[in-house]
Amino acid sequence: MSDVAAAVRAAAAARNPLPYPAVRLVDGAGDHLPRLVVERFGDAFWVRGAPDRAADLPAVLAGLDDPAQVFWRFGHAERGGPAGDDGARVVAEGPLQFHVHLGENRNPGLFLDGREARAWVRAHSADRAVLNLFAYTCGFGVAAAAGGARLTTNVDTAPGVLARGQANYALNGLPHDDRTFWKRDAQKALRQLRKAGARYDGVVVDPPPVRQGAGGDPLAYLGRVCRLAGELLAEGGWMLVLCAARGVSQDAVDAAVGLGDPTWVGQPAPDFRAVGEGPRLVAAAYRAPG
Ligand SMILES: C[S@@+](CC[C@H](N)C(=O)[O-])C[C@H]1O[C@@H](n2cnc3c(N)ncnc32)[C@H](O)[C@@H]1O
Repeated sequence: MSDVAAAVRAAAAARNPLPYPAVRLVDGAGDHLPRLVVERFGDAFWVRGAPDRAADLPAVLAGLDDPAQVFWRFGHAERGGPAGDDGARVVAEGPLQFHVHLGENRNPGLFLDGREARAWVRAHSADRAVLNLFAYTCGFGVAAAAGGARLTTNVDTAPGVLARGQANYALNGLPHDDRTFWKRDAQKALRQLRKAGARYDGVVVDPPPVRQGAGGDPLAYLGRVCRLAGELLAEGGWMLVLCAARGVSQDAVDAAVGLGDPTWVGQPAPDFRAVGEGPRLVAAAYRAPG
């Protein structure tokens, strides 16, 4: 067996005890396989790598015991999967279900390192109005609605991902109306909501790492959005902040958010293996002042 196949096998075996239907099996350099990620969604596998990793695909498959359902993508050009299979799957996360689309994009539609934060949101949303900024496929909106939120609003600039979010609401049998999905820039949405006098009992702030890096300071944008979002928080409200920018510490995120010490800090996902200054998700909740 090649070194790559052996490393994949060892990485997958290390995740064996984890009870998740959707799990990261190989996490790049943290599993001695730089520029390669493998995730499993039920019986289907999703392999993503840099272009120079494409030649390793047979060894990766051997390390996974040649599963029947494998989708892969190396860089932008090289991609594939079983003939006639569009890669659409439904995967469970606790009581929630999510659509994923394997092989199509850089992310299949569900950030697995956010599962603990989604569980936190579900547990802290009963009877609350929750605003989900940078909603993507609305994982946090679904978690809030499933947790009994009386209102959820999902904001994102990309209409395609909001359509997927709507499908996730439908999949979970969750109510939604014309306020649930809002194609809007996050800062513009926050200013518009402030002007309208809106109040929320929970706000999720999860900007893309690239956007957070705009202007050279990875936390400046996050801080601006959190300050605006903080103005909309009702008494007793919470703000959940996620930051996956490279080399950013919990303390630095706390300082950027500006709401004091967090009331909850997420643990590193057990199937992710951050190395050194490499990106790792910082997730923390803060309480509204006053
Ligand atoms: C890191 S993903 C968010 C992941 C999401 N919170 C989840 O749990 O699945 C970032 C999202 O922010 C959106 N986005 C980027 N710039 C934005 C902006 N200025 N305003 C609102 N959304 C934006 C992107 O379209 C993308 O869907």
